[in-house]
Amino acid sequence: MNGDEVVLENIERLRVERKAVILAHNYQRPEIQDIADFVGDSLGLARKASSVDAEVIVFCGVHFMAEISAIVNPDRITLLPDTDAGCPLADTITPQGLITLKKLHPQAMVVTYVNSPANVKAESDYCCTSGNAVEVVKAIEAPEIIFTPDRNLGRYVQKVTGRELIIWEGCCPIHDKISVEMVVEQKRLHPEALVVAHPECREEVLDLADEVASTSGMFKVVEDGGRDEVIVLTEAGMGHPLSKRFPDKQFFFPREEPLCPDMKLITLEKVERSLRDLAPRVTVPEDIRLNALLAVERMLEIG
Ligand code: 13P
Repeated sequence: MNGDEVVLENIERLRVERKAVILAHNYQRPEIQDIADFVGDSLGLARKASSVDAEVIVFCGVHFMAEISAIVNPDRITLLPDTDAGCPLADTITPQGLITLKKLHPQAMVVTYVNSPANVKAESDYCCTSGNAVEVVKAIEAPEIIFTPDRNLGRYVQKVTGRELIIWEGCCPIHDKISVEMVVEQKRLHPEALVVAHPECREEVLDLADEVASTSGMFKVVEDGGRDEVIVLTEAGMGHPLSKRFPDKQFFFPREEPLCPDMKLITLEKVERSLRDLAPRVTVPEDIRLNALLAVERMLEIG
């Protein structure tokens, strides 16, 4: 057996011994997606983490995703195989910043995108993901809504719902870097292709797309779109699950491929080590967890 095969065999053995499940985001390395029990978008992963029957959850994603698992599963062990796997968008907001904004808008309900730290969720009324942000905002009747921390998603939701939102000025640097020029180039190269974009992209990029969807929402868009070629405007890791599901279709990404370095930090060796040592664990202090849980549970009920 070569080194990789030994690692894979150890993961299989440890997964059973530890009564563990491996959850992976759609942007993870192909070899991680291929060993996962479930691969999905943030909403799908949060739902899975809240319903899964296991003692240990190995979260192959970034820190805020593992935190959601810890928020909904205080009695289970949540592991993040590399604690450096963060999210620059989540880092754009702090609880203090949100508290200051709330003081300026005391009537407002706060909707916080899941790409945020647990202590910011704890200051929020609702969480949302790209998969249900529109439904969450539509479900709120308050006179004012603060939307944090992604300005591009906020503007998209504002446009679709017609509700005026007070929007935090954060963004995902990977999606925000996708430019109109990059999309125009791909459209010129593949004029017959369907264009699907993630709502973390800029407004002018979304305007060029045929459809806007969360990462897992893209599967349905591709299925219903009936085209053999698809231009995909999100992190390029999405190419793996799309090609696996639709082997006869071709997927194109901007030439300068959008890549999230944090999403690529988790390797098979780190998953193996994590299962063996039951570390590193992600936990959330109980007072923060209980407040954040309310916002997360509202999110899980909608959309
Ligand atoms: P999805 O919930 O659509 O998978 O998006 C997660 C994310 O972090 C996008 O950058």
